Amino acid sequence: MTTPFAAIILAAGKGTRMKSALPKVLHEIAGRPMLGHAMAAAGQAGAQEVLLVTAPDQDAVRAFADTQGGKITHCIQRQQLGTGDAVRAAFDAAGTQTRFVVMFGDTPLMRADVLAALAEDESDVAVLGFEPEDAAAYGRVVMDADTPTAIIEYKDADEATRAITLCNGGAMGLSRTALEKYLPQLRNDNAQGEYYLPDMVGLAHNDGAMTALVMASAEDTMGVDSRAGQAKAEGLMQARLRQKFLEAGVGMQNPDSVFFSFDTEIAADVMLEPHIKINPGVSIAAGTTIKAFTHLEGVRIGKHAAIGPYARLRPGTTVGDEAKIGNFVETKKADIGKGAKVSHLSYIGDAELGMDVNIGAGTITCNYDGFNKHLTKIGDGAFIGSNSSLIAPVSIGKGAYLGSSSAISKDVPDDALVVTRAAVREIAGWGAKFRAKNQKKDK
Ligand code: UD1
Repeated sequence: MTTPFAAIILAAGKGTRMKSALPKVLHEIAGRPMLGHAMAAAGQAGAQEVLLVTAPDQDAVRAFADTQGGKITHCIQRQQLGTGDAVRAAFDAAGTQTRFVVMFGDTPLMRADVLAALAEDESDVAVLGFEPEDAAAYGRVVMDADTPTAIIEYKDADEATRAITLCNGGAMGLSRTALEKYLPQLRNDNAQGEYYLPDMVGLAHNDGAMTALVMASAEDTMGVDSRAGQAKAEGLMQARLRQKFLEAGVGMQNPDSVFFSFDTEIAADVMLEPHIKINPGVSIAAGTTIKAFTHLEGVRIGKHAAIGPYARLRPGTTVGDEAKIGNFVETKKADIGKGAKVSHLSYIGDAELGMDVNIGAGTITCNYDGFNKHLTKIGDGAFIGSNSSLIAPVSIGKGAYLGSSSAISKDVPDDALVVTRAAVREIAGWGAKFRAKNQKKDK
């Protein structure tokens, strides 16, 4: 049973170093905004509520947070006066919870078990420590044996304190009592003129309250504040996802070239060839092979199917068991039946294909008239000749055959053969006469 707590997520910072019109916490890692990762980790750790601290102009951030489910209270920090001030904005809006975990909206690799440890700790202030390779400008955690006695921000630290290698990871577990007592005591007479949340540690310790240290990895606490940082976090997240799928029995010839999304679902015994991009909303069932250079988004793929190489399956596609989608095939809002084959160079959009349908090379569903999208339905076992245009709305009956190069704008009954190509005309000897005439002209 996890300890009930409220997560205070700080996201009011400007994020100017991203050089982007999009608020920092809405930048994505593995297909999900960083704030979504933070909220999901809080939820997995057992947070009963999220108190989200944003700046007044961050409507987009609040709107995104509202799509993530769970109880959320918006707390506006009018001016960005420091992490301590941000927590004050949250605590002012808090209900009756007795335990709080402060975390940042821009640390997408933070793990739920680290947050749970901060929540479960019974001390008044639980500090999140880590030992980075380069302590750089992180706050330094001052210890007395096993007890944190203070955190000193780098800019305020003397040389001896800067030599400390134990750094503040930013997140913190706090009792209600600690927040009630020490938040009002925070001061901003420091190097940055800010109210520092880490000052809670010294205030608590000097007051005889309990402080404790919870350790995390540098990866868990990694904050993103630049495009380079975002790219690094993406790489680390992808490494986690690759490892998870390899351990779950998913085969990959070159894991480093396969990119997953936060919500990708893949069963054991799926084989992934190199160079595959999987955007959000994809599930792949057992025994299926995804061949090289395939792009998937919003797609459900059944068992023992084969996709690609060079296939692009777009949102709303479902692929039945044992179906085959070959090279240079694009699908969108397409329901492709069990055992159906779309092997080469086709566009299948707004379509329902029955079982064992065979789509010849170069077939196009003409689904769009410039205003509306129309449906193409193809019955079980129908055979669509190569280079056919299916002009929707149109329905092809079960077991029907379309001759190659058909342009079909009328429904085709079950088991019929339809051919729309022009009759073949043959003019014997035409080529020879043509050449003779033109060669004479040259001379
Ligand atoms: C903070 C810690 C530092 C620690 C580091 C770990 C403080 C004072 N320092 O520094 O000890 O080593 O994290 O990464 O806490 N924010 C607001 N409102 C504000 C200020 C910040 O919401 O007024 C949010 C930011 O959006 C950001 C987070 O708080 O998500 C951290 O703020 P930032 O200024 O980046 O702190 P650091 O300098 O990283």
